[in-house]
Amino acid sequence: MTQTDLAGKGALVTGGGSGISLSFVQHLYHAGANVLICDIALHHEAVAWLESIQHSSRVAFRTVDVTDWKQLESAYDEYGHIFGGIPDIVCPGAGIYEPSSPNFWNDQDESFYKMIRINLEHPLKLSRMAIRKFVQTKQPGIIVHVSSTGAQKPSMFTPLYGAAKQGISNFVRCMAGLQDMEDIRVVAVAPGPTMSPLMYDHPEALKLVDQDKDQLCQPDEVGRAMMAVCFDREQFASGTVLEVTHPDCWRQVSLLNDPGPGLNAYTSNRKEGLVAVVAALDADRHSTE
Ligand SMILES: NC(=O)c1ccc[n+]([C@@H]2O[C@H](COP(=O)([O-])OP(=O)(O)OC[C@H]3O[C@@H](n4cnc5c(N)ncnc54)[C@H](O)[C@@H]3O)[C@@H](O)[C@H]2O)c1
Repeated sequence: MTQTDLAGKGALVTGGGSGISLSFVQHLYHAGANVLICDIALHHEAVAWLESIQHSSRVAFRTVDVTDWKQLESAYDEYGHIFGGIPDIVCPGAGIYEPSSPNFWNDQDESFYKMIRINLEHPLKLSRMAIRKFVQTKQPGIIVHVSSTGAQKPSMFTPLYGAAKQGISNFVRCMAGLQDMEDIRVVAVAPGPTMSPLMYDHPEALKLVDQDKDQLCQPDEVGRAMMAVCFDREQFASGTVLEVTHPDCWRQVSLLNDPGPGLNAYTSNRKEGLVAVVAALDADRHSTE
């Protein structure tokens, strides 16, 4: 499958209602593919785009909460009802960021870390489902993950996020051999800080950025890299983790002896994040629990 022959092919993209995964949806659509967007909601930018393509029958949206495995399974059934068969390309792109969600330091989750459920567990479970369906139907397939430069940057204020993304990068490398065994290609991008709604809709994330100085990616840059890592088999082997930082700096991340993320992976005001850590530790000191 190459980038130019996606007519008749199809994709299932979680988190496709916004940002980076929406950009991937747009690239897939423009390459001729059918796409099922699975998300809890559509961002107003996605609504505007769907209007601009006159609600093409090649793009469908279903409400799916990726923390619920039954809903993930139903998403496959929905894909079959809408487009027939199974998706050729699966992208577990839904994600949340740590300052803007219940997180390690504010400890607001009740019985599990939602961050880990969404950013780590759902990509693994959706991959397992996809592999089974590809094998059952004897079809080749592509699974593309969204890791992060956060997988390589220890950060005290985003420890769950970093752990999840490091898990994703490792998982993708673990699956590299599926290419030769079953013609299933598992790859990832690892974007640096990206100016998506995850940033600009969330002041607590945006405050880590100096908007005059920092060079953030645009979702479209990452979407283009996702297309490349999916379809350019000569350049990118299965198991590739492709770092993407602005301006269009693509770099394959090595497992061993890697030099670490590019310069633009770091935002100027990241030390602001430590304020919440210090406050949480102070609260712990005075806690009687
Ligand atoms: N923006 C960045 O700086 C950046 C950098 C590196 C990696 N990433 C990763 O890229 C991916 C996309 O992020 P983005 O920047 O486009 O963010 P975004 O907020 O624009 O999009 C994330 C999407 O995930 C969806 N989502 C969240 N929880 C969900 C749930 N329970 N069920 C279904 N959908 C859910 C949201 O509704 C949203 O549409 C994430 O995995 C994120 O970790 C982002």
